[in-house]
Amino acid sequence: MTELEKIVQNIADNHSAEKSELVRILADDSINDFLFKTADAVRKKYVGDEVHLRGLIEFSNICKCSCKYCGLRKDNLNTNRYRMDVEEILSLAKKAKEYNYRTIVLQSGEDSFFSKDKMCKIIEGIKKMDFAITLSIGEKSFEEYEAYKSAGADRYLLRIETTDKSLYEKLHPKMSFENRKRCLFDLKKLGYETGTGCLVGLPKQTLDSLAGDILFFKELGADMIGLGPFIPNPETPLKNEKTGNLSLSIKVMALTRLLLPDINIPATTAMETLHPEGRILALQSGANVVMPNVTCEDCKQKYEIYPGKAGLNNTPEEYKKVITERIKAIGRTISTGYGFHKKTF
Ligand code: 5AD
Repeated sequence: MTELEKIVQNIADNHSAEKSELVRILADDSINDFLFKTADAVRKKYVGDEVHLRGLIEFSNICKCSCKYCGLRKDNLNTNRYRMDVEEILSLAKKAKEYNYRTIVLQSGEDSFFSKDKMCKIIEGIKKMDFAITLSIGEKSFEEYEAYKSAGADRYLLRIETTDKSLYEKLHPKMSFENRKRCLFDLKKLGYETGTGCLVGLPKQTLDSLAGDILFFKELGADMIGLGPFIPNPETPLKNEKTGNLSLSIKVMALTRLLLPDINIPATTAMETLHPEGRILALQSGANVVMPNVTCEDCKQKYEIYPGKAGLNNTPEEYKKVITERIKAIGRTISTGYGFHKKTF
């Protein structure tokens, strides 16, 4: 074993790492194959061969934020905005049931139209259909998170995006890094399975800061981590910046698997957007979840966080069929359970 391979093995055995070790691994691509294989073995040992499919509903693309990388930002006037009504959302959930998905992920921009009461009604309606529910609707107060939890929400996704505070504040006008963290720790306190994650390849982001992101995931005790490459959107101020690197994203994901061996990690759409095999590669380097989109055709096109989003040319039925075949072809199985985080570590 080379010295770097020994470091990777040691992280895999002890599920802890020094920041400097993470930076060294991120900086050296000669380690990639070994790292990916090790993360795949840790994934197999702790969460097995099952892949959990979560049905994603993008129910509103209206957003009050101005995140500099995101196509849904309120200052983007070149996008057609939509918001679904409760009936539409429930009918998509019903469709997801036909595809045998056991989790619904409700995602939207930060759309104040969906008041606490409206959200609770939607959550209760979906819960009646016997789904696990994941919310991905942004920063809210403790009281709101508490109400959603009582209404039946099980999980919450809120990426920290970057743990580099000054970069965070540059990219998120009028938002605060401290509040972002407050949200995540509130969600944990309330008993949500809490998911976070980061963007990889943001302008001015360093390997040191990516290593800090990975250590933050561990510090939070995240139950889920979703991350992917930054993809410049021509309708945003970052339109001329460089696209994030897919293999660096997969490295960050693989290292996350070594540190948090039993959590749920999706192979994300942004990874597939940069490479047709991106999702499969991720599933073979530590990931164990896929979130197929069940949003109807016209809305899905308008939920344009970044351009060229993978899966836009498939109907939900087709996508389910294709992803199932691909998962089976790499020797994995489709989970029939809710796919909660089973803490074994
Ligand atoms: N490229 C890649 N991912 C993006 N996201 C937002 N904008 C982009 C982009 N340009 C991610 C953020 C957010 C998630 C819903 O989408 O990390 O949390």
